[in-house]
Amino acid sequence: MSQMTISRRGFMGAMGAGAIGAAGLWPRQASAQVQSLTIQPASYVVLDQPTQAMVSAYADAPPPVIRMAQGQPFAIDVTNATPDYTAMHWHGLRVPNAMDGVPYLTQFPIAQDETFRYAFTPTDAGTYWYHPHCMTMDQMARGMTGVLIVDEADPLDFDAEVVLNLRDFRLNSAGEFIDLWTPRGAARSGTFGTVMTANWSQLDRHDVPTGGLVRLRLAATDTTRIYKLILEGAAGEVIAMDGHPLREGVPFPSVETPLVLSPGQRAEIVVKMPAVEGALVTVLTDAPGAPRALAQLRSVGAPLGRVLAAAPQLLPNPVTEPDLTAPRVEEFVFGWTPEGGPPVDGLCGSLGYSFWSINRTPWQGDAAENTPALATFQKGESVVLRLRNESPNDHPIHLHGMTFRPISSNKRYLPSNWTDTALLLRDETIEIAMVMDNPGDWAFHCHVIEHQKTGLAGFIRVVG
Ligand code: C2O
Ligand code: CU
Ligand code: CU
Repeated sequence: MSQMTISRRGFMGAMGAGAIGAAGLWPRQASAQVQSLTIQPASYVVLDQPTQAMVSAYADAPPPVIRMAQGQPFAIDVTNATPDYTAMHWHGLRVPNAMDGVPYLTQFPIAQDETFRYAFTPTDAGTYWYHPHCMTMDQMARGMTGVLIVDEADPLDFDAEVVLNLRDFRLNSAGEFIDLWTPRGAARSGTFGTVMTANWSQLDRHDVPTGGLVRLRLAATDTTRIYKLILEGAAGEVIAMDGHPLREGVPFPSVETPLVLSPGQRAEIVVKMPAVEGALVTVLTDAPGAPRALAQLRSVGAPLGRVLAAAPQLLPNPVTEPDLTAPRVEEFVFGWTPEGGPPVDGLCGSLGYSFWSINRTPWQGDAAENTPALATFQKGESVVLRLRNESPNDHPIHLHGMTFRPISSNKRYLPSNWTDTALLLRDETIEIAMVMDNPGDWAFHCHVIEHQKTGLAGFIRVVG
């Protein structure tokens, strides 16, 4: 199927390539064991009593960590057991366009009781995540964000692994959801949650080997919050950002040099646990007043006596280096919306207003017909994208389907690490470089979901 010739409305008649009838007659792919995920209503004790009207992959637990192996075929049947439409997106993975989970752009939204099979082979190892891309604001705010791990083809010898899904919930003191978005927030930095959590817990605790080397994986899956993380009580080293092993070092998260993780970003840190049994290592984030503890690791058992210098080394993922001798340069301006009604989001939920724009045009909506690409590129083209923020707010800018790295900023030094989500500070212009090597229509948007859903979205097209 060519994504260039199928009209958006073309999804209406025929179900998308991955769609499966309720009877489940689609032939099973022999090469991959099919996992399954059912998006459903849930309840869970986040505060003191169960919060109702959550959305998860279980009725009574957070979405699971999904694992797959680098270079091995993976398939998952996503079933929608909510009354709303949905679609699942694999944030940061370089998948074929039809598997990207973007409503109307790559598939028709999944209706209640329907199943869509996503199948792809992950090329890159590392820490990624998944979330709906339809009814995004609602389903994500209610809980539907999970961590996805692609294991290295050759397993690495850490003593333990701890995965932290960092996000807020917007609850009142009785544990009930309050307005998930507000016009005031959407027009500024977003509407913040009231309860910070790690793995849906206000303080997530893990026992790990005394003196061991822990692979700590962090994912910022909140719709709004930009984390400034601090690690207390242990030495360690940041080894990967946004899925990819570092090309250039990033300071260990401390009060002086907190690790900034904006919505959509991930980090991996090797933590050398203290050699004393019972010692605590705390993950905190900057918060009004004093830093707020999110998670704690505790040393248990006889000391392993490992040394940081002996930590396993991650291998780079197969990302192609752009040729920057004479790259094509394209500029994208992120700013306020001059005017414009609410986006046409079809079955995928509109917040009811537009505030933001890319290149001075607010996103017309997921379901709008004939929305042009922001730019069209040839497959294999090396490009520099200049991202210019004309607004007084920060925007984590995310591109689907491909990997890029920053090469400059007008405000600060940016390490040139591969990523899919780059935080663009107020009034900042950054340049990113990449090879346009994955054909298709790729969503390009701010990951503050209220910004995305009120205009700060679009797509680029790669042909060939
Ligand atoms: Cu993580 Cu287009 O999204
Ligand atoms: Cu994405
Ligand atoms: Cu934004």
